[in-house]
Amino acid sequence: MRITNAEFLKSALKPSDWPDDDKREIAFLGRSNVGKSSLINSLLGVRGLARTSGTPGRTRTLNFFLVNHIFRFVDLPGFGYARAPREIKQTLAEAATEYLAQRKQLVLSIQLVDSRHEPTQQDLQLHDWLKYHHKPHLIVATKSDKLSNNELNKSLNRMAQILKSKPVAYSARTKRGHDEIWSAIEKSLKN
Ligand code: GTP
Ligand code: MG
Repeated sequence: MRITNAEFLKSALKPSDWPDDDKREIAFLGRSNVGKSSLINSLLGVRGLARTSGTPGRTRTLNFFLVNHIFRFVDLPGFGYARAPREIKQTLAEAATEYLAQRKQLVLSIQLVDSRHEPTQQDLQLHDWLKYHHKPHLIVATKSDKLSNNELNKSLNRMAQILKSKPVAYSARTKRGHDEIWSAIEKSLKN
């Protein structure tokens, strides 16, 4: 897809603050620091559109981005950030779950897992939840540039075994996986 326009729309927690038109949405979800904001920026080719940070737990709201004036990307708050105060973690998890469960505009959930680690209990829970609720989803293994080819293959096979679906290896540095992710997004927008 050729990106002609990408803009930050708004940050929101409560459903009443979410955009209320019927444009389709692609959501990005996964552990804090896994690379959600970096993936969004690199897919859109706009550095700094979604805020990235070396400090986990940076994204603390649902962030909506309008792409080519026709659909939206949604950066969901990262889960599993151990150092956030309990009330904040609770609120974020509730907002993200509420979004996934009831958002009619949602056509694809892109679940990010770190290619360097085994999927965590929370990764598994989220994945099971998406499957159980028949949510169309794609698993992306991030930061693939940090592994050798051999290590990466091992890790991808391991993930495929555990999650029972094959992840797409991605790197925001090298753009590996870029085309594959875009074609999944385009397909979901057509349905
Ligand atoms: P939260 O907003 O805290 O939930 O994090 P996030 O999932 O949005 O992660 P973010 O995109 O901010 O990235 C976290 C850190 O990982 C940053 O320091 C990024 O530069 C780095 N990072 C993200 N993607 C890649 C990648 O593909 N390769 C490498 N080497 N580093 C990456
Ligand atoms: Mg982020």
